[in-house]
Amino acid sequence: MIDLTLQIGTMTLKNPVLVASGTFGYGQECQDLVDLNVLGGIITKSITLKPRDGNPPPRIVELPAGMLNSIGLANVGVETFIAEKLSFLRTVDTTIVVNVAGSTAEEFLAVVRRLDDEDDIDAYELNFSCPNVKEGGLEFSQDANITAKVMSLIRKATSRPLIAKLTPNVTKVGEIARAAEENGANAVSLINTLVGMAIDINSQRARIATTTGGYSGPAIKPVALAKVYEVSQVVQIPIIGIGGIMSGQDALEFILAGASAIEVGTANYIDPSTGVRIVDSIKQYCRKYKLASVRELVGALRPAH
Ligand SMILES: Cc1cc2nc3c(=O)[nH]c(=O)nc-3n(C[C@H](O)[C@H](O)[C@H](O)COP(=O)(O)O)c2cc1C
Repeated sequence: MIDLTLQIGTMTLKNPVLVASGTFGYGQECQDLVDLNVLGGIITKSITLKPRDGNPPPRIVELPAGMLNSIGLANVGVETFIAEKLSFLRTVDTTIVVNVAGSTAEEFLAVVRRLDDEDDIDAYELNFSCPNVKEGGLEFSQDANITAKVMSLIRKATSRPLIAKLTPNVTKVGEIARAAEENGANAVSLINTLVGMAIDINSQRARIATTTGGYSGPAIKPVALAKVYEVSQVVQIPIIGIGGIMSGQDALEFILAGASAIEVGTANYIDPSTGVRIVDSIKQYCRKYKLASVRELVGALRPAH
């Protein structure tokens, strides 16, 4: 028996493989394609206070080694999420993490407060990569003071586990992770998308309507690994690694770099069962190296020579 479990605050994950926000809908969309019960957890797309249509099309473009998107947090809003989406998630035997977003600290707070009235939500992932309208559109987690302020505000409002999801678009992500930890985060997850851009030289137009967007997929994995490693040197709370994870090997690299769990994002667009396959690969790896628990691998990275 290999122990794949992981504790984050009051939440126990049966294994360290989750699906990333915005790449798996509200879970229900994928129920006929994959056995959701095998996953360690489902993270919903970002939920805001009011419904959002998101940005105009085109808002997704496939590139040679990744994907550029400008979805713009399209979602049904917290009331419809509770009325129409949560009941399905309750039927799945896995951990349910609701990803929360807002344009202001107050919006984050209002969404968390409303969701706190509902049973069967295991944790919140706070999308601190969305623009803060009161700070000229700066992403919340681009500033350690703002991260600290919003984190402590939300910490006071709920006893559920809080995962601070961080942007990679900063110079020192470790400082931001520390600010989240010191103000009550039970875990940090990283990375969200990198700022990217693509141009069609025939039409001489930007390939997505917002000109720049969020870059994800295999191309960002080395960047994500380095950020996870950096954060692992400065925080004690669990780290959830995200960025270009397509296979068991990718997931294990993140774990060796210091992640206690991982999220599968863009890979779901190619194969929604990627997460399920990764659970199996991690088990096989543990068996091969005679490990009783996957936790023995967390941060076990050794230098090249
Ligand atoms: C189409 C798309 C939509 C996304 N929407 C969200 C979102 O609503 N909230 C969020 O926190 N992250 C969102 N993300 C970011 C992913 O959860 C993930 O952090 C990022 O894509 C990096 O992982 P990946 O390379 O495995 O995709 C989105 C990513 C993509 C590709």
